This record gives sequence, structure tokens and C-alpha cells, in this order.
Amino acid sequence: MTVSNQKGGVGKTTTTVNLAAALASAGLNVLVIDIDPQGNASTALGIEHHAEVESIYDVLIDDLPLGNVVAQCPDISNLICAPATIHLAGAEIELVSLVAREQRLRRAIDTYAAERERRGEERLDYIFIDCPPSLGLLTVNAFVAAKEVLIPIQCEYYALEGLSQLLKNIEMIQKHLNADLVVSTILLTMYDGRTNLAAQVAAEVREHFPEQVLGAVVPRSVRISEAPSYQQTVMTYDPSSSGALSYLEAAAEIAQRG
Ligand SMILES: Nc1ncnc2c1ncn2[C@@H]1O[C@H](COP(=O)(O)OP(=O)(O)OP(=O)(O)O)[C@@H](O)[C@H]1O
Ligand SMILES: [Mg+2]
Repeated sequence: MTVSNQKGGVGKTTTTVNLAAALASAGLNVLVIDIDPQGNASTALGIEHHAEVESIYDVLIDDLPLGNVVAQCPDISNLICAPATIHLAGAEIELVSLVAREQRLRRAIDTYAAERERRGEERLDYIFIDCPPSLGLLTVNAFVAAKEVLIPIQCEYYALEGLSQLLKNIEMIQKHLNADLVVSTILLTMYDGRTNLAAQVAAEVREHFPEQVLGAVVPRSVRISEAPSYQQTVMTYDPSSSGALSYLEAAAEIAQRG
């Protein structure tokens, strides 16, 4: 599942790490792939990602096996992460001249899954890919690698402006590179129940995408925003907070849909 929205700061990373943590805590095997040069998902999961660490950059550019860069999340068993390093910032340009530049992540994942099976390791139940806030080649790689797209939407005024551009890009991917891709899930984030605006945005998104929008809504929560500074998800930082419960609920909806 690729978590994408070219608008910055809408909750992509927060959604990725917390859904992954919620599903892993329920006993499922989950892999998070961080393809944002900012490396925020790696930070939140407590995974080293300084410049010397082998990362998804080496996988995409130098064909290093994905299994070589995957690391165990210290706080949550069943949760592993392929970290991003700052080198990824250059990958967008380096990819342009490489063979099969749009398929590199997909191939790496397929090879890794086959390798796990060959070694008799448990099958991965979910893979989440945390995208940067752009629609460049890194995000294209994520769309080509995925079966589903999850779009987090911040309940604010400009939320819907970039959405048609995003959906157009996804249509192009479906047409040319990955016919199986579906926008399966939309999650409303940073919902401030005190404002009419948040309610209006939420209602409008639900009207347009009745099938995709999850019933669970993520509230604006200080605990959610504090967790990354302790290299944690809110699921471990404060599991009984409203933010953690909302992500648990969203994860349950996703799991029930199969
Ligand atoms: N529900 C929430 N309540 C309060 N703060 C939140 C919530 N969700 C995310 N945040 C905070 O908002 C900021 C942006 O969130 P996040 O990093 O998840 O967005 P993003 O879409 O991944 O951003 P980018 O486009 O830079 O990758 C972060 O500081 C995060 O801690
Ligand atoms: Mg992010």
C-alpha cells in the first residue's frame, strides 16, 4: 500500500508508521519502506538512517537486495523498515538514466518476497510505502510497486486542490505502468472537531469518495505530534490516547476489508 499525497505535511508519514505499528501489534508481519529523503518514517520507527547506513537508495540505484537494508523496529516485533537516507534526494535525478527506472522498487520487493519464501520465513502481510511530497520518479516507483494507494487528506481548506492532479497521475500509472493499482483508501487526518471547516471538508471528501473514505477519522492530537521526537509511533508512546485509538480503528477497517 502506497501512502501518497503530493501536498506536504498532510499526515502521510504519521499514517504510514501508525497503521503499520497497529497491524504489527495485532500480530501481522509488516514492512515499511521509506522512500522520502527526509527519512521521517525511519525516525519515527527508531531505525538508523544517517548517511552511512545502507538504505533504499542503494536498493533503487545500485541493485542492493532489499533484504540487506531492512532493519527491525526496536519497539514493535513483526515490524521491519527499509530506511531512507539523505542520498535519496539525488535519486530522483540518478534514476532518470537507469534501465527500468519506474520498476526498480517493484522488482526489489518481488525478489525480496521470493527470497523470504525460499528461506522459509513468514510471508509479509502488509507493505506500506511512505512517499515524499512530490510526484517524481520515487513516487512513480511506489505506485508501480503497489496494489493500493492510501491518500491521507488533511481536513483543511486547500485539501482538495491538489487531489485532482494526484488522481490524474494515478490514472496515468494505471494506463501505462500498473493496471492493477487502485485508490482503495482515503483517511481524514488532523481533524479538529471544533471547527465547521473540518466538518465541511470531511463531508465533501465523503461525498466524492464514499467507498474509499475510512469511517475512522484521525483527530488533531498533541500526542501524535510528540511521538516522533521519542523515535516512537503514538501506538507505543501513548497507546490509550485518542490519536492511537483512531489509528487502531483505521487499521482494523483496513484489515477487515482484507
Ligand atoms: N493527527 C495529528 N495531530 C497533530 N499533529 C499531527 C497529526 N498528524 C500529523 N501531525 C504532525 O504534522 C506534521 C506533518 O505530519 P507528517 O510528517 O505525517 O506529514 P507528511 O505528509 O508525511 O509530511 P511530508 O509531506 O513532509 O512528508 C508532523 O509534525 C506530524 O507530527
Ligand atoms: Mg512524510
